[in-house]
Amino acid sequence: MQIVSTIAGLRRILSEWRAQQLRIGFVPTMGNLHDGHLRLMSVAKGDADRVIASIFVNPTQFGVGEDFSAYPRTEQDDQQKLMAIGVDLLFMPEVIEMYLANRHTIISVNALANIHCGLSRPGHFDGVATVVNKFFNIVQPDVAFFGQKDYQQLLVIETMVRDLNIPVDIKSVPIVREIDGLAMSSRNGYLSVEERKCAPMLYQALSRAKDEIMWGNQNFEIIENDAKELLKNNGFLPDYFTICNGENLQPAQIGQHDLVILAAAKLGRTRLIDNIHFISKKQ
Ligand code: PAF
Repeated sequence: MQIVSTIAGLRRILSEWRAQQLRIGFVPTMGNLHDGHLRLMSVAKGDADRVIASIFVNPTQFGVGEDFSAYPRTEQDDQQKLMAIGVDLLFMPEVIEMYLANRHTIISVNALANIHCGLSRPGHFDGVATVVNKFFNIVQPDVAFFGQKDYQQLLVIETMVRDLNIPVDIKSVPIVREIDGLAMSSRNGYLSVEERKCAPMLYQALSRAKDEIMWGNQNFEIIENDAKELLKNNGFLPDYFTICNGENLQPAQIGQHDLVILAAAKLGRTRLIDNIHFISKKQ
């Protein structure tokens, strides 16, 4: 696996690959890789001739007081994992390589940036959209891979690509869960032993809410409130638990069938997010 930290170095390798008409797959990450990331890499390997992963803890998607400095950086370990799975190239730029001091451009996917996670984390999705846009311009992949765990992020990126005619295919990859249902996340490592035992309740609350809807309950507000109560009773501080239209993340309306239930809740100091996307209509 080649490891490159400059845009110029990356472009030299990419131009050789393009001259050979190879299909290039890209998986952006912030490192601290777990099996969820590795699933993205292996799906990418099955789809593309060459796979590029990036590790970049992007400062612009962290708000004041968030965990940018504390975000786990495990580069040696990450490199071993990427090598073992057969990633061809790892791009690991420094912040100064990615961001000029006098930069002026921000990408904002307005309709999606300021709801749900965007409400609690102002500017977060602008940071994500801007850095992903920059990566797409730097790497110019044919296809890029994102996990469904960050459902709102996935829609932000799909919308940006569509609105700006970016010639990259976006492939989404299902959530990878621990045996007890907890969605894999780099932030799970912040949980204490006791919190880790409670954490799967987030997925259980989502699954119960989905079951209610599948059984025909359309009183979404009651379902949401019950779920928040359940979470509070199990030590969580819910941020939101909301049944949405799966395409635009607006509150679900009775009769809509493409639904996603989005949840974010704090357990101690750790903010966990998870979701379930499903079609409610029985086929
Ligand atoms: O999902 C992430 O890890 C990040 O938000 C991403 C897409 C790599 C952008 O920094």
